[in-house]
Amino acid sequence: MTGRPPSNPSSPTLPLLFFILLLLLHLPPSAWEVFPSARADCECGYLAPSAAANGFRPALFTDLLETDFTRLARTAADNDDDDEEGDGDDDDIWTSGTTGWARQAFNMSRARARGEYGEMFAVGNVGVGEAGLGLVVRSEVVDGMVSVAELDTERLDLRWGTFRAMMKVSRVRGTCAAFFWYFNDTQEIDMEFLSKDFNAANGSYPVNLVLQSREAALAGYDAAKTGNFVRVELPFDPRAGFHEYRIDYLPGQVFFYADGEALAGMDGPAVPSSPGHLILQHWSNGNPRWSGGPPVEDAALVVRYVKAYFNSSLGQRQRDWESRCRDPAAPNAVCEIPDVTPGDMGAADWFFSDHSNMTNNQTTTTTSEESEGSRLKQPWWPTTGCLLLAEKKSNAWIAICSEHPTYPSTKMIRTETQPPQISRLKKVRKWERNNSTS
Ligand SMILES: *[C@@H]1O[C@H](CO)[C@@H](O)[C@H](O)[C@H]1NC(C)=O
Ligand SMILES: *[C@@H]1O[C@H](CO)[C@@H](O)[C@H](O)[C@H]1NC(C)=O
Ligand SMILES: *[C@@H]1O[C@H](CO)[C@@H](O)[C@H](O)[C@H]1NC(C)=O
Ligand SMILES: *[C@@H]1O[C@H](CO)[C@@H](O)[C@H](O)[C@H]1NC(C)=O
Ligand SMILES: *[C@@H]1O[C@H](CO)[C@@H](O)[C@H](O)[C@H]1NC(C)=O
Ligand SMILES: *[C@@H]1O[C@H](CO)[C@@H](O)[C@H](O)[C@H]1NC(C)=O
Ligand SMILES: *[C@@H]1O[C@H](CO)[C@@H](O)[C@H](O)[C@H]1NC(C)=O
Repeated sequence: MTGRPPSNPSSPTLPLLFFILLLLLHLPPSAWEVFPSARADCECGYLAPSAAANGFRPALFTDLLETDFTRLARTAADNDDDDEEGDGDDDDIWTSGTTGWARQAFNMSRARARGEYGEMFAVGNVGVGEAGLGLVVRSEVVDGMVSVAELDTERLDLRWGTFRAMMKVSRVRGTCAAFFWYFNDTQEIDMEFLSKDFNAANGSYPVNLVLQSREAALAGYDAAKTGNFVRVELPFDPRAGFHEYRIDYLPGQVFFYADGEALAGMDGPAVPSSPGHLILQHWSNGNPRWSGGPPVEDAALVVRYVKAYFNSSLGQRQRDWESRCRDPAAPNAVCEIPDVTPGDMGAADWFFSDHSNMTNNQTTTTTSEESEGSRLKQPWWPTTGCLLLAEKKSNAWIAICSEHPTYPSTKMIRTETQPPQISRLKKVRKWERNNSTS
């Protein structure tokens, strides 16, 4: 990143050294002061220093989306006067386009969901209350589908970022709670919690950390074996209280955290490189090998906040940063993101967006430019690993990878150079269609 073009070199009277100094300071011609000050705090962005503790450079991000869902509930309550139906319905806050989030509605048949049941993603299962956002999986099965919940960011242009969700998962067994970044089924970063796997008797509280990638599939179609699918024991019961789960998506590197403590890091070609969006999801399809369920009673995943500090893939947003940020080295031009830590959750209460001069044009919720980002409302499923199928067809190896252990067939991956490692394939099935999905 070079900041901005250097200042106009045509002035013959400018002493050379001074000019070089200007170049170093990245000053535009309009700001020929040696020590400029920031016009607004954080105008050059937000710094995540904790990656540095792991031996990496601190990462700077230009944009933010901070949502305190507990406050949305209060906003909804304050607006009760406007609630014409008088039912306390919080639809308004979602449809006003100001939250930056969109509730999802789509149905997945049993065949598509590959579980005992289909899944009905319904906006009625997404709501806010005093405790925060609730994503509910219903015990009642409707038309062969479990009624489940999903909320997505409207912005699709998140390319590199640190994404944090303060959540409490359900005690009710038989659901999958997920916080993830998504572009498509081969560019995805997941944290998934299976409520049936939590075991107080032996203190086992695993979280599944996954990178979905074409490369991982080609490397043997077993994300676990490539290091792109790990199951990590949390040092606490995630059902007993709120904890901050975090994904840092950096060029060539992904880190997962719980309460500011690193759980795992992944790198290599499996790391995505596209712009994408954030998804909160709570689902069940009755498949005993993954989500289990459906739950015997309604189960809620409660999310207190999501804080996302990120760079945008959009040229307009990058130009906005360039015109806003005069000098990253100026005092307060860059703000450090406070981290929660296991002993100190104080940072949970910090929102830059509470301070108007710390978020100067950095909280835009809509994107107008090129729709380069990932797609919303496309029926898809959280993916966790590859169960594979492969076949030699003419001169090319063709493998079909289900990107979810419980969903046996969906994607085709082709390699012309070498056969997939069939020894690792868990399943072989004939590829019947003749069209590629990619
Ligand atoms: C931002 O606002 C605070 C008060 O809310 C003030 O103390 C601070 O100086 C302001 N910073 C800038 C750069 O204007
Ligand atoms: C984000 O964008 C800024 C401005 O272009 C850049 O300085 C920074 O390095 C980028 N962050 C990452 C993680 O690439
Ligand atoms: C999903 O299925 C339910 C029950 O059959 C139906 O009422 C609803 O309209 C469907 N939703 C969508 C988005 O198709
Ligand atoms: C995901 O996007 C990448 C980049 O555009 C593409 O190469 C890949 O084929 C896509 N994967 C799927 C499953 O569509
Ligand atoms: C805890 O017990 C469960 C059920 O017996 C078992 O599946 C799991 O592997 C155990 N976990 C640990 C960390 O011992
Ligand atoms: C603020 O951001 C929007 C959206 O990117 C952009 O259109 C607008 O020009 C920006 N305003 C300023 C003052 O930079
Ligand atoms: C291949 O696709 C074409 C067009 O979709 C279809 O007409 C044809 O029957 C397919 N062939 C096989 C062997 O499936």
